[in-house]
Amino acid sequence: MDEFVIKGGNKLSGSISVNGAKNSALKILAASILSKEKCKITNFPIIEDTLRTVELLESLGAKAVIDKENKIVEIDPSQINKTDLDTNLVRRLRSSILFAGPMLARFGEVQMDHPGGCIIGKRPVDFFLDGFEKLGAKIKFTEEGFKLHGKLKGATIFFPQITVTGTEAMMMAAVLAEGKTILQNCAMEPEIPVLAEYLNKCGAKISGAGTSTIEIEGVKEIGGGEFKVIPDRIETGTFVMMGLLTGSEIKVENCIPEHLGAVISILEKAGAKLEIGPDYIITKPSKLKAVSIVTHEYPGFVTDLQPPYTLLMTQADGPCIIHESIFEGRLFFTDQLATMGAEIIMCDPHRVVVHGPTPLHGKKMTSPDLRAGITLVLAGMIAEGTTRIENIYQVDRGYEKIEERLQKIGADIKRVKE
Ligand code: EPZ
Repeated sequence: MDEFVIKGGNKLSGSISVNGAKNSALKILAASILSKEKCKITNFPIIEDTLRTVELLESLGAKAVIDKENKIVEIDPSQINKTDLDTNLVRRLRSSILFAGPMLARFGEVQMDHPGGCIIGKRPVDFFLDGFEKLGAKIKFTEEGFKLHGKLKGATIFFPQITVTGTEAMMMAAVLAEGKTILQNCAMEPEIPVLAEYLNKCGAKISGAGTSTIEIEGVKEIGGGEFKVIPDRIETGTFVMMGLLTGSEIKVENCIPEHLGAVISILEKAGAKLEIGPDYIITKPSKLKAVSIVTHEYPGFVTDLQPPYTLLMTQADGPCIIHESIFEGRLFFTDQLATMGAEIIMCDPHRVVVHGPTPLHGKKMTSPDLRAGITLVLAGMIAEGTTRIENIYQVDRGYEKIEERLQKIGADIKRVKE
């Protein structure tokens, strides 16, 4: 298993460019199933999760051409001839649940195991199954998962809790359902209106995406098209916090600062000196004071940036509470920060108290999930001495060639093949 070996203390300088958003690219790959025509995707992030998802499409009979050099993927879904999803791939990919809606909409059936993914929480799929039932699907539970079948008809669905992929899955399924579907209490993450805009260009009739109510008028079929993946707001926020943690001036390029409104306002409240441009953010060395946060669905403070922010607060002045309101398992990585010297007290699975600043010293650690994994990399970059991180597949799931990109701006990080 590969490991990262990091020597802490380096200042960074120069620019780092943000890649295409993982959580947008994964959805467009699923949406490509809805059409029989080709889908060309540019600015495609070449990372484990997207490459495994392309494999899942190919295992169903779709054809895929990947140009890693130019970050372009072309999907031909016309030859899909299977409706049961590969167990091993589904087990590794939580986002494979996104295939259920399009498969059901186009083929009238789909069979899959319960999807795997991060250990950040139970990650149930009840909102999906309830939604598909409302759209007319019949569910048969199998030993490891479920089989859905039926012709979809439009319905009104009120999500019991805001769910990002639940909103996307129902929106995609409704594109080919007969009649009108109204989705209420929808997620409003930026990746959702972007997906709706692409589907509308292909012939779908979706309105309201990006608000809490989405209306979809079902159509017989949709065509193919070209989709440019938007910059990854989570990479953006991660690199901004990396600049602040190392007390460096770095330019985070090719990003959309407006997608990080809540995060930027909290960082500035904590004393971060940031220069915000139209498509870049420059960090300046800043003395930070601790500011508490509650993670929240968009446009609130995004849960995927809670881990690097929690690390940042170990270097800020004073106490604060980190309240992770979305996932019940996303704060356990803090015990690894505590072994490095951070002062963190867990009140309950959803809240920790952080008291900074405390010097961190290098340790041998294991990456539990991708967002905690990159946070441990950042911790190693500011710790005294050497840090070794194993299970870095988790980091490679979401951050392309991360060690090469960090080396370019001055980090002392190596990938060691075990
Ligand atoms: C998406 O996950 C993202 N993944 C996550 O990013 C992100 O953290 C999350 O949204 C919240 O922003 C992708 O887009 C591929 P949810 P998703 O459904 O859709 C509960 C990353 O690091 N829930 O919005 O799976 C759920 O347990 C990943 O890139 C149910 O109870 O999250 C959670 O508590 C991690 N039943 C809450 O809803 C369901 O059927 C919100 O989850 C579905 C969800």
